Amino acid sequence: MSALVTNSPVWKALEGHFREIKDEHLRSLFAKENDRGKHFTIEDTGIYFDFSKHRITGKTLELLTELARERGLGDKIKAMFAGEKINVTENRAVLHIALRASKDANIQYEGRNVVPDVHGVLEKMAGFANKIRNKTWKGHTGKPIKNIVNIGIGGSDLGPVMAYEALKYYSDRSLTIRFVSNVDGNDFSEALQDLAAEETLFIVSSKTFTTLETMTNARTARAWLLASLGDDKAVAKHFVAVSTHEKEVARFGIDTRNMFEFWDWVGGRYSMDSAIGLSTMTAVGPDHFYALLDGFRQMDEHFLHAPFSRNIPVIMGLLTVWYTNFFGAQTQAILPYENYLKRFPAYLQQLTMESNGKYITLNGEKVNYSTSPVFWGEPGTNGQHSFYQLIHQGTNLIPCDFIGFKKALNDLPPHQDYLTANMIAQGEALAFGKTREEVLHEGVSAELIPHKVFEGNRPSSVFFLDKLTPQNLGKLIAMYEHSVFVQGAVWGVNPFDQMGVELGKVLAQNIIPELQQDVPLRHDSSTNALIRYYRS
Ligand code: F6P
Repeated sequence: MSALVTNSPVWKALEGHFREIKDEHLRSLFAKENDRGKHFTIEDTGIYFDFSKHRITGKTLELLTELARERGLGDKIKAMFAGEKINVTENRAVLHIALRASKDANIQYEGRNVVPDVHGVLEKMAGFANKIRNKTWKGHTGKPIKNIVNIGIGGSDLGPVMAYEALKYYSDRSLTIRFVSNVDGNDFSEALQDLAAEETLFIVSSKTFTTLETMTNARTARAWLLASLGDDKAVAKHFVAVSTHEKEVARFGIDTRNMFEFWDWVGGRYSMDSAIGLSTMTAVGPDHFYALLDGFRQMDEHFLHAPFSRNIPVIMGLLTVWYTNFFGAQTQAILPYENYLKRFPAYLQQLTMESNGKYITLNGEKVNYSTSPVFWGEPGTNGQHSFYQLIHQGTNLIPCDFIGFKKALNDLPPHQDYLTANMIAQGEALAFGKTREEVLHEGVSAELIPHKVFEGNRPSSVFFLDKLTPQNLGKLIAMYEHSVFVQGAVWGVNPFDQMGVELGKVLAQNIIPELQQDVPLRHDSSTNALIRYYRS
């Protein structure tokens, strides 16, 4: 018998329930229930989560949480926190929660407590960050380091960039922090063009230390450094590595004493709070980094202990399932009303889509339902003046996550009031729209009426926090990490491998020599023609 979720009795019940409520408008749901706006909220860990503007009733939630139970979510959460090898396709544990465990915690993996290792690396990172920040780490010519360039890609880039941008307010402005990820040489050239080699330090961040983009950029960086400083010995003072692979780091020529370790039980897209966060810690300082970890930990505790019906990541994950599999939504928008979170949607794209963009379940069966939607977004209010038209009046249903803060980091009245008013107004407009009668009442000419009507009934969540602190950032990231876990559990896929990225990498390796030399081509006619065009 197939273990696909669509065969489960609760799924069938949800299908029936969906038929009953799919046409119900949020206007009528709110009319029926006076305190809906309070009832469907959770306030915990300093996050006010309003999910009242979703096309759900109490029964929907009952069925969805029942589905989570039926899919063994509770046991799966416990198994992750207990260090079991739940990443079965790679035979690995999934222990990013250990990266933020408190010093006295005991998290066992293969018979040993990993927490002392985690804190050992954190202390080493803090030592490095402090030396850079207090200018005692000197470059080859004796000058202090002023520029940090993180070289990495995917999880070894997106988290660090996002966190650096998010926490820029807290960063040491005497340091210049840059990121190079793309194998496109323009990325490297632009990042380095105004930096002096003697004041620049590279953090080469790569879990495997074999990734084509990162190793190519790292070799170019070494050549760039040596072209200016002219002495191989300079590498030791200007390169550090973050990796799980000591051998590869040594092979590259980086002194392994300047290597910051993490472990194969940390997935790339779940690694920004590991040593991969070295650039973040250097920018904002160890205390703020520890506060970030504390925020992660608070959300971990909430996820582990709150009942499903009061559990923020559980409800979030189940709502994504509800819209994806019942309403047929294909995308979900992430809309932070906080400019410092401008890279948050890009970061979440890898977290969500590399995790759950899979059509094969853990049992090896092909699914007969959709898995991860496309996640995308931009900060408000910019998005309002570009793509929100489609969210309001387009033909796709796009559930939105609004993320807002009560206080601005740079308090310039009246900016924060205007920003927040816009966020709240968007949710209101999406949910309730504007009826034909209301438009008519405004004296609009008959032919324009259909254009000015907003059907509404478009769902959104609001995540409201006090202000963007390192701690609150940690909570938000962990919240999404765990909601991805919930989705994966329901869909029955493994959120922790990424086999789908391999084929393109292998084929590129075949094509590289074919671009460089005139060798016979054995691809399809399109691929052959493209290679010939490049060569010509
Ligand atoms: O190609 C995908 C991927 O493996 C991601 O999962 C990972 O975050 C990224 O490449 C970078 O990998 P690494 O840190 O090993 O260089």
